[in-house]
Amino acid sequence: MAAKRVEGYRCSSCGAPAAKWVGRCPACEGWGTLEAVAAGTGRGVVVPLGGAARPIAGTDATQGATRPTGMAELDRVLGGGIVPGSVTLIGGEPGIGKSTLLLQAAASAARNGDRVLYVSGEESASQVRARAERLDALEEDLWLATEREVEAVVAHLDAVAPALVVVDSIQTIRAVEGSGPPGSVTQVREAAVRLVAEAKARDVAVVLVGHVTKDGSLAGPRQLEHLVDTVLSFEGDRHHALRLLRPVKHRYGTTAELGLFEMTGSGLAEVDDATGLFLADRRAGVPGSVVLPLLEGRRPLLVEIQALVVPSRAPAPRRSAEGVDAGRLALLLAVLHRRLGVPVLEAEVYALAVGGVQVSQPAADLAVVLAVASAATNVALPADVVAFGEIGLGGEVRGVRDASRRLAEARRAGFRRAVTAASTPTDGVGDIEVVRVPTVAAALAVLDLLDGPPGR
Ligand code: TYD
Ligand code: MG
Repeated sequence: MAAKRVEGYRCSSCGAPAAKWVGRCPACEGWGTLEAVAAGTGRGVVVPLGGAARPIAGTDATQGATRPTGMAELDRVLGGGIVPGSVTLIGGEPGIGKSTLLLQAAASAARNGDRVLYVSGEESASQVRARAERLDALEEDLWLATEREVEAVVAHLDAVAPALVVVDSIQTIRAVEGSGPPGSVTQVREAAVRLVAEAKARDVAVVLVGHVTKDGSLAGPRQLEHLVDTVLSFEGDRHHALRLLRPVKHRYGTTAELGLFEMTGSGLAEVDDATGLFLADRRAGVPGSVVLPLLEGRRPLLVEIQALVVPSRAPAPRRSAEGVDAGRLALLLAVLHRRLGVPVLEAEVYALAVGGVQVSQPAADLAVVLAVASAATNVALPADVVAFGEIGLGGEVRGVRDASRRLAEARRAGFRRAVTAASTPTDGVGDIEVVRVPTVAAALAVLDLLDGPPGR
């Protein structure tokens, strides 16, 4: 914890002394009135602000209690809810739905009995009100201010005394005395530093919205990550309704959670059955389609991988990978071609993860290879099969983490067989048949996808 060379603190309004800095004077209850009493000309007394050091085993591990916002998918990602005095930064591309998410979360917290202040620096009060109407967010304890100066935001904190404040967005807030134009790195940083201090002093939970472009280049959010307690990333493909809320940093819990939402005409709907959402429109029995049990953090989702293979005479046939890693696809095509004699290098290949989800983990390899092989041979996989596993350059299939969670989700969704690595543990797989394959060739053989004799 920080230590400062001071004698102690004194309230500038009533004069009461205090050993420790707190946001509100214990004597006169004035906010932010305590001032450090400068150390004398001598050596000053060091006051450890975080209390005396104690053995780690004797240190209390319980964090300040979390307060649920009542928005289950957000609470899931935060490990139960928002911690008073914490600062959370939600980053995402413009238009992805950050304002929508936070207005809904703010309304939900207000409905739960917390006073919430929503500060908009981007939209007018009437715009926010119109959106709130559409989102059914007109709660009595939800307060709205439009503001672009950090001092004014602090004044609103004094006036409203909320338990939670949302600042949308940090890039529009200026620290009056700071240098540089609004939105510049210095201004954004200074405004954020000030809001972090207010959060700690008042024990108010602060949520900052930060716009991030695809390459993360926009000034601000990346520089703020170390200042705040929690960083969440709100992601999705603008052409799809699916939105993912991912923890990037979380001082109060795991970053392995994932929140799922669907953008609808009346705001974000929480998705608790992700698998149902992804597989809703699937047509089983079509060549080139394979279901992959994916793990996002620790959340299992079943995603359909599709491929299409079109003969081509072009010297460099087209490759298209959507939601699937393009480099990985190239590698897998080379393995298919070289090791198994499936002639895909002379063909156009399109591979796609359905639903706007990004599948970049190696565990997707086997599903991608099977989708391509199924498309190339025009042989569909049985409808009750899922596949997962990492593939090596030798054509071997490797085990991936948490196979049992993937298998459990596949079973829950009604699949009966899983094709995966030979090394997959046997524990707790229940009534789903695990078809263990050491190589891609073995996988193609059990699924009847080998037409003609395999190559090397
Ligand atoms: P918004 O929350 O303004 O995004 P951000 O704050 O991240 O820039 O949402 C942007 C998009 O969401 C907007 O283009 C329209 C869409 N949208 C809906 O589809 N349904 C809704 O109910 C709302 C409020 C927005
Ligand atoms: Mg916005």
